[in-house]
Amino acid sequence: MTLPRIGVFDSGVGGLTVLKAMAAQLPAHYLYFGDTARLPYGTKSAETVARYAIGATKFLEAQNIDLLVIACNTATALALADIKAAAHVPVVGVVEPGAAMAAEVSKNRAAIVIATEATVSSHAYRNALRQHGLEAHEKACPLFVPLVEEGWIEHPVTEQVARIYLGEATAQAPAGADVLVLACTHYPLIAPLLRRIVPATMEIVDSAASTAQVVRKMIEENLASHPERSGLAPATEPSRRACPGLVEGTSISGAMPSASAAMSSAAHRTFRFYVTDSVEKFKRLATRFLGRQVDNVEHVDLGG
Ligand code: DGL
Repeated sequence: MTLPRIGVFDSGVGGLTVLKAMAAQLPAHYLYFGDTARLPYGTKSAETVARYAIGATKFLEAQNIDLLVIACNTATALALADIKAAAHVPVVGVVEPGAAMAAEVSKNRAAIVIATEATVSSHAYRNALRQHGLEAHEKACPLFVPLVEEGWIEHPVTEQVARIYLGEATAQAPAGADVLVLACTHYPLIAPLLRRIVPATMEIVDSAASTAQVVRKMIEENLASHPERSGLAPATEPSRRACPGLVEGTSISGAMPSASAAMSSAAHRTFRFYVTDSVEKFKRLATRFLGRQVDNVEHVDLGG
């Protein structure tokens, strides 16, 4: 049986938190693209992010992926519609899964969202949460990404910065906010530190884990509706149009591979990484994000 080929796109290493969460529950061939030469995306315009993300989408599609996961919160928030319009495979972003999970756990229907400047300015999370009946305050935390990349995960400076950011966010949050949404790839790494700062009654929702659940469910549902299918075939435009809106309007092609095929072939899970900047630097940081060494890393140059 053939495993699904899942493309994972991020501005750099951060999306490895999403890859890690998916790999823990779904055996597949994972093809990860980190646009390390052009990160951070969190400070860039929607037009630029869309152009970069579409270039990466085309590259991953050329590697015969069945499904594309936009692990980057900024790229999802700013460019998901453009990416979907350009893609020929089903596309899953991280915003809707995070918002849906927040809605599931919030009793008071109020949340705090922490993210990059660009994600906050787009109000993608606020809008998605509103669809689920939650009010939200979005707070940009631009220092977290460099602190995490520096490896300052349990560090007094990171803790101090987090106390300031969360203090400001809480002061402006809707009354009774009882969920903190980690709306950036890097933040799951400092979740234990954040847990110590926010009240014990506040739930912490991680977009990476929520997205992994959605991807798994998509593949399982595909099996349920197409039990006869087990092989891989690239999704086609007509089949995508024929089956609209599972996740964030994501369509799921009948040609997607089955979950049971994936589950029964755990031993055959593979990883391949493509980066636009230094392979060595990526390997170094990836170890921090994945908690294990990575190989199979290749440099690619997309130009422009
Ligand atoms: N991957 C980005 C995100 O999740 C954070 C890093 C960046 O700004 O590129 O928003």
